[in-house]
Amino acid sequence: MVQWWLDFAIKRREKKLNDAFGSLQAGDVFSARGRRVLLTGAAGHIGSVIAKVFALNGAEMFLTDINQAGLDEVCAECAAAGAKARAHAADLRSTDAMKALAQETLAFFDNRVDALIHCGGLTWSYPMLHEDDEAFDRHFQTSVRSFWNLARALLPSMKAAGGGSITVIASTHGHRADGACALYAASKAALLSMTGTLAGEFGADGIRVNSVSPGWILGYKPKYYWDRALDLIKPEFRAEAAEKVAGHQDELAKLIQTLPRVGRPEDVAMACLYLTSDAARFVTGADIVLDGGKTRVQFESRAGIAQMRRRYEAEDATHQYLHNLPLEYWLAGELPPWHHKRHK
Ligand SMILES: NC(=O)c1ccc[n+]([C@@H]2O[C@H](COP(=O)([O-])OP(=O)(O)OC[C@H]3O[C@@H](n4cnc5c(N)ncnc54)[C@H](O)[C@@H]3O)[C@@H](O)[C@H]2O)c1
Repeated sequence: MVQWWLDFAIKRREKKLNDAFGSLQAGDVFSARGRRVLLTGAAGHIGSVIAKVFALNGAEMFLTDINQAGLDEVCAECAAAGAKARAHAADLRSTDAMKALAQETLAFFDNRVDALIHCGGLTWSYPMLHEDDEAFDRHFQTSVRSFWNLARALLPSMKAAGGGSITVIASTHGHRADGACALYAASKAALLSMTGTLAGEFGADGIRVNSVSPGWILGYKPKYYWDRALDLIKPEFRAEAAEKVAGHQDELAKLIQTLPRVGRPEDVAMACLYLTSDAARFVTGADIVLDGGKTRVQFESRAGIAQMRRRYEAEDATHQYLHNLPLEYWLAGELPPWHHKRHK
């Protein structure tokens, strides 16, 4: 009798959950099927992968970036994956452009946008005494004011539709001071603050607002001179050098975080997919830190000075590799000038 009642209770609970989600198959619940998504920074390293992951998982995509050529390429890839997709180049720093972008998006999606993913932005800033007012404005306009403008333009339609999802790509730098990048860190902290506040303001309207804070993700980062160096290597040698440099970056990652590799854009895209999907329907005001354990685990301080020394040795190994590349590898036929200056 007790067993019968238990079975009955479990079946009833399963049915309730099934009714709520429509299905308990992960493939159905963790999906972007039918979602109408506006994505900024779609031509970037992380944004282009988010675009493709969403397209492959059933979303309709409105893609924007300042880089028209890159944007067109990503849009074609989304279409090839079977998604309805449109590209619209726009400058995040311009309020008028953001208003026009929101209008275009609403027109494309028949006035219903389900999700905004704000990935466009700058990836680094320099030490404070090397920056100026123009840099300050550039960082805050590109990252923060653009989001403010887009969210303001899209929230009324999400409210009218009874809900929506907003995901912002912030950074671990918005949580914890790490390196001399005050403008970058402050702009990401502002985004984290704004997402939390909006989650509170629009929860009752069924609109969820979350963020993702990546740590170190493989891609172009002006902070790391070897990434910048790849652009200066002749195309025919670039793949070989990129593979070598990625290997060095994985080695370096072992020394600063607990998971022994640098993050990949796919890692960020999967978190965005989760936050946009039904699987996260009870998640708002949250931030997913994707950093291989760098921020929370305090790996460096635990490991101490010896660990730091190994880290610098690994950086030096990368430098040595680039420095020893034959001169014919470099576009200009010689080492880039900053390469000499920095490492004499
Ligand atoms: N790569 C990392 O390690 C890392 C870590 C944490 C957070 N992030 C964040 O992830 C996001 C994507 O970074 P990424 O590594 O792909 O860099 P990325 O430079 O490849 O991508 C950024 C994209 O934003 C676009 N963009 C820049 N300024 C713009 C403007 N004024 N108007 C319109 N578009 C503009 C660029 O064209 C580019 O396509 C950024 O917000 C970055 O801060 C990256």
